Amino acid sequence: MKGIPRSIGQFFGGQYYCGLDIGSFKVKASLNRVVDAQTLELLAVNEADTRGLAAASINDISDFSSCISAAMDGVLRKTRIKVRDVHVGLGGEFIDTRLSRALIPLVERGNKIVTARDLHHARQQARMLGVRLDEEVVCDMVQQFKVDDVNIALNPIGLYGRKLEVETLLVLANITRLRNLTKAVQQAGFEVNDVHFNAWAATELMLDRRHRNDGCVFVDLGARTSLVLVFKEGLLKGFRKVEVGGDLMTQHIAASLNIPFQLAEDIKKSYGRVLDGKSDLTQDVGLSSEEILIKKDAGFVPVKRDALSHAIEPDIRLISDQIRQVVALSGYEGQLKSGIVVVGGGSLLAGLMERMENDAHMPVSLGRNIPGLNSAAVYCISTSLAEMGYKNTLRYKLDSQKPKDWWDGFKAKAEELSNEYF
Ligand SMILES: Nc1ncnc2c1ncn2[C@@H]1O[C@H](COP(=O)(O)OP(=O)(O)OP(=O)(O)O)[C@@H](O)[C@H]1O
Ligand SMILES: [Mg+2]
Repeated sequence: MKGIPRSIGQFFGGQYYCGLDIGSFKVKASLNRVVDAQTLELLAVNEADTRGLAAASINDISDFSSCISAAMDGVLRKTRIKVRDVHVGLGGEFIDTRLSRALIPLVERGNKIVTARDLHHARQQARMLGVRLDEEVVCDMVQQFKVDDVNIALNPIGLYGRKLEVETLLVLANITRLRNLTKAVQQAGFEVNDVHFNAWAATELMLDRRHRNDGCVFVDLGARTSLVLVFKEGLLKGFRKVEVGGDLMTQHIAASLNIPFQLAEDIKKSYGRVLDGKSDLTQDVGLSSEEILIKKDAGFVPVKRDALSHAIEPDIRLISDQIRQVVALSGYEGQLKSGIVVVGGGSLLAGLMERMENDAHMPVSLGRNIPGLNSAAVYCISTSLAEMGYKNTLRYKLDSQKPKDWWDGFKAKAEELSNEYF
């Protein structure tokens, strides 16, 4: 969802780009500097507790705005760089999804070559048909193209046909919530340059052509929601928003040890470990004898470390089951050669990646390693948002394309126009 640039500078693009990932647990900010078209140097990251937000609605705009300020101030103070606008990303709680379809005629009689304009037109139709009055389309992700009722695996451009059908997953946000979000960002002293769906920005930046074609599962394990996306043959083949994340695990630890949420959160991060899923639950991972001391009213009490693992086991199983179901529904079970790619703070839980590997029988890797950053899983989305900001500018086009690319682009456009009208 791109707003209208407010200045030529914003349209052309500058040297610094800031991504702001609005999560239900933390607001994360990343500041990147353009080195060249292929390299964006990460200058600083920062996070702040999310406040003033309940179930994706802003219930206290000054609280929400001050947590955005806190996240942004951290990066700006570390780097002493001023930025005016931010590239905002919305997480699972903020968005709804809906499948939409559109069928457009390409030509009255005979057939014609499908062009990029036809694709754009069909997608535009699907967006218009699927959106309600109180919603805005944050992005659309194509799931299928059909030319003359025949499924086209990758890209229909260049094929002859009479009609083009597209099926897309619309990612939608409530207009009032978006307005309030923009207002909160402005109150914090910044402008919203554009708004993306976090998982879309992350997959655009982290999954290369091989991942998408060979097939992979992308999982964002957040605090309240986990998003599962399946890609194959270059397109999105499955999606599910699961209302399970790190918060639920913390709640289960808090309930089973009878301790406050914040203490359970600290203990989860320091001592939590996921069972490997291979062995018998009663004697797994050799942790049963290990004890930790927890501060309670009466003083310190010893707790077996495996009690933490057992408390979160139902949540881990739920996540594994959901991943399995989405993959099965996509129809590509056993064919996703690039495995599972995970991001989000939830994936930092010790042993989780190994457990996912065991449950799904697929290799699991982190979306992105950021050298020098321990918690890359937390910041890789805000970093992707900053990069997306740069990639949407004219400056990126100028930086990345050689004169030959411009010439090839011009020739392709001329060919497209000649196919369209002659
Ligand atoms: N080192 C760690 N070990 C275990 N869990 C962790 C660790 N660091 C963060 N988490 C968990 O990650 C979750 C927060 O992740 P993240 O910042 O990606 O969520 P969010 O983006 O705010 O939430 P959402 O995407 O659901 O809106 C919390 O539940 C937190 O407990
Ligand atoms: Mg998130």
